[in-house]
Amino acid sequence: MSDEFIAFIRKIYKKKKKIFLHEPKFIGNEKKYLSQCIDSSFVSSVGKFVNKFEKKIAKFTNSKFAIATVNGTSALHVSLLLAGVKQDDEVITQSLNFVASCNAISYCNAKPIFVDVDRDTMGLSPYALKSFLVKNTFIKNKRCINAKTKKIIRACIPMHSYGHPCRIDEIKKILKKHYIFLIEDAAESLGSFYKKKHTGTFGKLGVISFNGNKIVTSGGGGCIITNNKDLAKKAKHLTTTAKLHHKWDFKHDIVGYNYRMPNLNAALLVAQLEKINGFIINKRKLANKYELFFRKTNYNFFKEPKNCKSNYWLNSIILKNKIERDKFLNKTNSNNIMTRPIWKLMNELPMFKEAQHDNLKNSRWLEERVVNIPSSVTL
Ligand SMILES: Cc1ncc(COP(=O)(O)O)c(C=O)c1O
Repeated sequence: MSDEFIAFIRKIYKKKKKIFLHEPKFIGNEKKYLSQCIDSSFVSSVGKFVNKFEKKIAKFTNSKFAIATVNGTSALHVSLLLAGVKQDDEVITQSLNFVASCNAISYCNAKPIFVDVDRDTMGLSPYALKSFLVKNTFIKNKRCINAKTKKIIRACIPMHSYGHPCRIDEIKKILKKHYIFLIEDAAESLGSFYKKKHTGTFGKLGVISFNGNKIVTSGGGGCIITNNKDLAKKAKHLTTTAKLHHKWDFKHDIVGYNYRMPNLNAALLVAQLEKINGFIINKRKLANKYELFFRKTNYNFFKEPKNCKSNYWLNSIILKNKIERDKFLNKTNSNNIMTRPIWKLMNELPMFKEAQHDNLKNSRWLEERVVNIPSSVTL
């Protein structure tokens, strides 16, 4: 089967010697805006492109506010601080995950708790979440307390894996009942909708990444989206070294972070955002081609979950078992076709191996079987 796949993929990505998993596409005003930015001399964290980007992304996601950051990880870090996460608090997230949210939890000196995902979304499972909370926590003074550690579970970060929305409305309801702050990791899901509402807008705070491998990029960059004016104001303050506004003086009222996206990166991103609708159409067409192709094989192509419109950031297939998976990975990669397995479970990384977790049944099942296949825009 790998041979047929190799032939199929070479047909899609004509002329390419090496076919990458996800390459950026610069086909619009990128050079023009970058050179305008350089000519203006405002290449750092102040400038019209950063403000323009914030307006554009807020409009695109239908959020009231957007705050630009240097990357998605810093946006997660600041979101956790805004959620009130402190030393020794606990934060629930999925074990089948990119490492960024777990790192951000650690930056706050808090601890992650890992809960299972659903097989059909690869995102945090509301059933597993509810079952973990019912079995392991109690409520005291409107705080969710972990019965085992006696620590407060302050926040939860579900993720929309590879652009496929998880069951975020159910997750939201469960967290509300347990007084847990919802931060959505929508790093990979710009342009993905759950029941017609943009991912990242269900929680009080949502995070997006514009790393070079994402659907649109600023080289490095991220943002926080929110409908809460107060949180937006605090996010901007924390990400801009907590400097108080003054014509010429330097006053900082708390420990802040130098996390604001530079204007140069924002210039690239504004041009990229002008193309995003076309990119999404193109990526959804590619996913359709893959689906038709894999129908004729015994591999399962991962389709967008019900009630969702996915950006299909990375296309995935599910192989029979780990042996089949490794065979496929070896064959494709030695033929210059970049394919990658899904992430390692976070609780198996040395720094999180002590973390509390549930049985992670689906996470383990998916970890052995999922492979990501080339997904760049084909324009
Ligand atoms: C799910 C997820 N969360 C967070 C991040 C962190 O974003 P960044 O690389 O911009 O720091 C990424 C990816 O890069 C990601 O895929």
